[in-house]
Amino acid sequence: MQNFKAILDEIYADAKRAKEKGTVASYIPELAHVDENNFGIHLRTLDGFEYGVGNFDTIFSIQSISKVLALSKAMALIGESVWERVDVEPSGSPFNQLALLEIENGIPRNPLINSGAIVISDILLTHLKNPKEDFLNYVRELASDPNIYYNLEVARSEKNTGFKNYAAANLLKSFNNLVNPVDDVLDFYFHQCSIEMTCNQISDAFFFLTNKGNCLTNTAHLTGAQAKRIIAIMLTCGFYDEAGEFAFEVGLPGKSGVGGGIVALLPNHFVITTWSPGLNKKGNSLLGMQALEQFTTKTKLSIF
Ligand code: DON
Repeated sequence: MQNFKAILDEIYADAKRAKEKGTVASYIPELAHVDENNFGIHLRTLDGFEYGVGNFDTIFSIQSISKVLALSKAMALIGESVWERVDVEPSGSPFNQLALLEIENGIPRNPLINSGAIVISDILLTHLKNPKEDFLNYVRELASDPNIYYNLEVARSEKNTGFKNYAAANLLKSFNNLVNPVDDVLDFYFHQCSIEMTCNQISDAFFFLTNKGNCLTNTAHLTGAQAKRIIAIMLTCGFYDEAGEFAFEVGLPGKSGVGGGIVALLPNHFVITTWSPGLNKKGNSLLGMQALEQFTTKTKLSIF
């Protein structure tokens, strides 16, 4: 067996030496104030081992990483009907770009860009009895951890600065691809983005995707076929206009968030989560991507 602990220690030491750390997101004060020196990795293997280095146990804003869990819940609720309202093609554009949405008649390119995630929020709002409470409980159940919460200040700041998300939601509404009122859908979407988790909790919550839909306690949350679909979308769409680069460098399906988190997985083998708040020009964690490139290079574990 590989010495994962030694490999993570090496990667951690390299990250600590790095001079270029990227730029911490500054569009809301709660993210702007996060210390750029935070760096953590957590790895959970399917055969029952886990390893953590650095700030792997510190909570941070998961932001767009939540889009994968929202999609999973929507698929669990309505199955393949999700694809009547959102496509499965990479956008090749930034996460908040609106041009394609107008050209393509209100059908978002995929569920991991903002417009697609807003449609998924609309689906959850329709099908969950108490949407915010039920979604948070779903995430807690996936992670087998009741200590996961929304950050209400972050949700409020997202609302105060979310002009492009309002534009996206209104455009979706104009194309009849939003059932619920714009304000209700965005309120739910902003809460989703505001969830705070540690690297450890994220690895645990995403375990079911590497384990054919079955979470850590072996409860089935999705079928193996549904998990396969979600992983495929993570590979092609998880990093917006840097999805190709992530596949090229790292070679794993994954998802990033502007809080500096990245979760990546090798089906049937492991889930790995990194956190480093400094972002590159495309909005993905600079050192997180470098760490994952080193991990798959050193372990020779990738889908390719
Ligand atoms: O909705 C937004 O635009 C922000 N909450 C950022 C979401 C995000 O993390 C995008 N991706 N990296």
